[in-house]
Amino acid sequence: MQPLTAHPSGPLKGRARPPGDKSISHRALMLGASAIGETRIAGLLEGEDVLGTAAALRQLGATIERLDDGTWRVRGRGTGGLVEPDDVLDLGNSGTAARLLLGLVASHDMSVFLTGDASLRGRPMGRVIEPLQRMGAAFAARAGDRLPLLLRGASLPVPIRYELPVASAQVKSAILLAGLRADGPVSVTEPAASRDHSEVMLRMFGARVDTHERTVTLAPGPLRGTTVQVPGDISSAAFLLVAAAIVRDARITLHRVGVNPTRTGLLDVLDVMGARVQLTEGAKDGEAMASLTLGSTELTGTTVGGALIPRLIDEVPVLAVAAALAHGTTEIRDAAELRVKESDRIAAIARELGRMGVRVEERPDGMAIPGAQHFRGAHVASGGDHRMAMALCVAGLVAEGETIVEDTECIGTSYPGFVETVNALADAPCVEELP
Ligand code: S3P
Repeated sequence: MQPLTAHPSGPLKGRARPPGDKSISHRALMLGASAIGETRIAGLLEGEDVLGTAAALRQLGATIERLDDGTWRVRGRGTGGLVEPDDVLDLGNSGTAARLLLGLVASHDMSVFLTGDASLRGRPMGRVIEPLQRMGAAFAARAGDRLPLLLRGASLPVPIRYELPVASAQVKSAILLAGLRADGPVSVTEPAASRDHSEVMLRMFGARVDTHERTVTLAPGPLRGTTVQVPGDISSAAFLLVAAAIVRDARITLHRVGVNPTRTGLLDVLDVMGARVQLTEGAKDGEAMASLTLGSTELTGTTVGGALIPRLIDEVPVLAVAAALAHGTTEIRDAAELRVKESDRIAAIARELGRMGVRVEERPDGMAIPGAQHFRGAHVASGGDHRMAMALCVAGLVAEGETIVEDTECIGTSYPGFVETVNALADAPCVEELP
């Protein structure tokens, strides 16, 4: 794919439906593969990360097909029924796929080799290795607990009570998935609530999961195939919402967006900044869904930290763009996790927005972004990070002149139709592939 060029856009108007939620899509395939019987999934994200999970689960013995009507059918193997793959599982760019699959296969008496792309091979796996070792699994990993690694699963995992040092849905989920076959209940306590999609979906598949304050407890037991409706991804909707807030004369409505409260931190922050997103709640079928409407708004800077961080962690790159245009400084704190995402997002935001003439003060656990700044078109690069690529395209919509964004293939990991959707909302194409 050629670099993308983003131009200052005219008004953004109309309706769009963001693609299926990435977190929920991974989980639907994994639980479907571990359930007894058939699972039907509607609205699955057909992005590279999720397709990579489907491929890995097929290597582990599950039957997964896309049907003509666009729904997906998974024929599960029952808990403990996965089979040893005859080759390495390559999870591409996806930390969620790698960490959750480690949990899932940790309860199988077999050896699994796992790897990923350069970004994933650089990300820490010790956070899942440590609890899964306590449950009886064994690992051989590269220095710093990085991929590629070899996992030797335990046929009867030891039940543990685990206190997470940082809120992480991936680590919590890995422990719960391994716990499905443990010799007693497992429990995980988090310092702040991370997304609870695993808990919601495990219950839909018939598992006994209790949440009490910050502790989740799962009783081991079988899963039964079910029907899953995947809502639109609020983390993908975020790019369009911020674009609508910052572009002049914009007003857009996004349909069927997942609004699970553990994911809606961006809506709360936009609200404090002055952009009130109107929510029209739809029927709740497992996960809450709503239509979101937002138009151009004068924004005010704010401070974001503490328990809000896990609720908007993936939205920080695009939030930074909004913050630079707000009146007053915005501070983002308690977000050191941003340094170990698909890229070091604190450094990437400071560096790439810096190229556009926007000042971002980097801090070890966040950043300070002075407001009322002016974006200048520039040559910028995503560093292979999908959320950086899309945030930079959004910045280009309000920059003076043309912004060239390099390394944009990665957008396909989470939002394959991003460019088409932005252009459909604009009166003339504003994000284009260079000829
Ligand atoms: C995810 C959890 C978050 C998030 C990631 C998806 C998930 O990561 O950043 O994009 O699906 O569980 P952490 O668990 O590392 O916080």
